[in-house]
Amino acid sequence: MPGNEKKILFDRPAIERRVRELADEISRDYAGGELLLIGILKGAFIFMADLARAVTIPCRIDFIRAASYGDEAKSSGRIAITKDVELSVEGVDVLIVDDIVDSGLTLKHIADELKTRGPRSVKVCAFLDKRKRRKVPFEADYVGFTIDDGFVIGYGLDYAEKYRFLPDVYVLTDEGRREVGDDK
Ligand code: IMP
Ligand code: MG
Repeated sequence: MPGNEKKILFDRPAIERRVRELADEISRDYAGGELLLIGILKGAFIFMADLARAVTIPCRIDFIRAASYGDEAKSSGRIAITKDVELSVEGVDVLIVDDIVDSGLTLKHIADELKTRGPRSVKVCAFLDKRKRRKVPFEADYVGFTIDDGFVIGYGLDYAEKYRFLPDVYVLTDEGRREVGDDK
């Protein structure tokens, strides 16, 4: 049945409030400094745009992209950077921005890699955190919302490349998964 594919989890006002709180915290922590925000493509692009405009310290912007390869279902843990940053991270305060931490594999790999390049500091800001799904120990320094298991979409997050454009965050229902599956 159309219309039952998703259930609202966080609406726009709730997201805006939380992004402002995160931005205030970040602005206090880095007061007087400058930041290099590194967004992980593609999921982080909307959150990063909101966060960058809400922090009150000067930011430079870059993006990185990673892919996991091997057996996706078993999540082999092999991650490759498929598009690297273009700015140098040497000597600068880096804040990695992502849509969601799930197994932790992607963010851990990217954070560890960037730390080898001589940055002044590396921290991570994730809009959502599925804490119970970690396969490797990993803690984000700033988290928008902690959520239970379940597949979320909207505000940059996709399912099979759909739904990224939605301004609110939804949980995809079993029906939604089937509908997308049927479309492919
Ligand atoms: P991790 O390496 O398992 O932590 O995976 C992180 C990436 O998987 C995120 O950056 C998302 O792109 C994607 N992901 C994980 N869970 C979800 C979800 O519930 N909805 C959409 N994308 C997700
Ligand atoms: Mg992602």
